[in-house]
Amino acid sequence: MRGATASLSAVAILLLLYLQIASVSAFLPSSPFFREIGFVANDFHPVFTRSAIVYAGTLSTSSTTIPPNLKILILPGFGNDSIDYYMSGSLVDSLQEQGWRRDSIDVLRVARSDWLQVFWKGALDLKFWTAEADPTRAAFRWYLERISQQIQELCEELCDGDHEDCRVILVGHSAGGWLGRAALGFGSRQNDGDGTVNDSMPVGPPINLDKVLGLVSLGAPHLPPPPGIMDMTRGALRITNEQFPGAYHKPNDGIFYITAIGLSVQGEEQERRSPLEPTTVKGFAYNSYEAVCGNGTTIGDGVVPYSAAHLDGAVQLDLKGVLHSINAPDNWYGSSQVIERWHEPMLQELKASKKLSTNSNNIYTKNVIDRISTAFEKFKIL
Ligand SMILES: *[C@@H]1O[C@H](CO)[C@@H](O)[C@H](O)[C@H]1NC(C)=O
Ligand SMILES: *[C@@H]1O[C@H](CO)[C@@H](O)[C@H](O)[C@H]1NC(C)=O
Ligand SMILES: *[C@@H]1O[C@H](CO)[C@@H](O)[C@H](O)[C@H]1NC(C)=O
Repeated sequence: MRGATASLSAVAILLLLYLQIASVSAFLPSSPFFREIGFVANDFHPVFTRSAIVYAGTLSTSSTTIPPNLKILILPGFGNDSIDYYMSGSLVDSLQEQGWRRDSIDVLRVARSDWLQVFWKGALDLKFWTAEADPTRAAFRWYLERISQQIQELCEELCDGDHEDCRVILVGHSAGGWLGRAALGFGSRQNDGDGTVNDSMPVGPPINLDKVLGLVSLGAPHLPPPPGIMDMTRGALRITNEQFPGAYHKPNDGIFYITAIGLSVQGEEQERRSPLEPTTVKGFAYNSYEAVCGNGTTIGDGVVPYSAAHLDGAVQLDLKGVLHSINAPDNWYGSSQVIERWHEPMLQELKASKKLSTNSNNIYTKNVIDRISTAFEKFKIL
């Protein structure tokens, strides 16, 4: 009975979180959240009006020397839509400023309403209620399926027909970070098993790890809450972390991991005089940190606490002053003022990657490391 009550409230909290994210009013610059982090009202553009411009797509003329077989796939966070990352000042823009061609960057196809699947599919799954649902089960499987599909598509459509040399970097924002990690883990099992379903060895939509260069996570929770704290992912994060701990695919599969976390907000419990009093940045952080790691007064990026954001064996980046989402336009992971702080380490990992070494005869892969270096250096001089 107690378990069921806890599960019910977990689902209720998740739903509230979703509604808060999805409601347009949460994006309004008049909310105290934006005021406190210095959001300028004039900079505000409704998310939804941007899609048309965005998908029309402008081909960057910047650098043409980055090998076309190198792709970045952005993985949106909880409640986020693909278009959030195409907005001006968002990740796609900033990556282009760093020298990537527009057609080298893709965003996982996710609509805001897709996240409702977590609730209604979860609600039909007993293991979701008991917080024992691994991410290959219905509530999150749709997301893993898209990662699997889209990596395949990138390789088939965009790499000039040459699948062999296609290489993808996953950049996961927020929940996109741990879901990307789950996709790699459970998706790479397909090859080993005999296809039979084993509950303790769940298998995800297939991913060929040869094609994946690395995973960059930006403000992602990677560690589950301690026992006794309700698990908002209903077991998915805990099971991912148990079965694929740390930089799991680094030693044998040559996949690099970068975990970046902003250090900007110390949580502080908000004393409310009335239930209508708006939430402060510190108060919001307190609730969010407490839900993720059990300690509301710790430090983090305003949504995800420092203590849950790093993986053993990953390149761990602590980004002072950086906030979780684009609502802080100049200080979030994707803003042009911040991106270099994780993009530069990512280039270092690319240059060191054995997966880009050039045994291949393909012209795109030949001397790929030299080409990466010159492409980005040239761009900086310009
Ligand atoms: C499932 O996999 C685990 C780990 O390999 C193994 O120990 C267990 O016997 C398997 N269970 C079944 C029913 O095949
Ligand atoms: C919570 O985190 C803060 C800052 O890291 C630390 O000083 C405090 O001791 C922690 N509290 C608990 C209960 O662990
Ligand atoms: C993503 O969703 C968050 C809510 O969690 C929202 O505040 C933000 O504007 C969205 N977009 C980005 C790029 O963070």
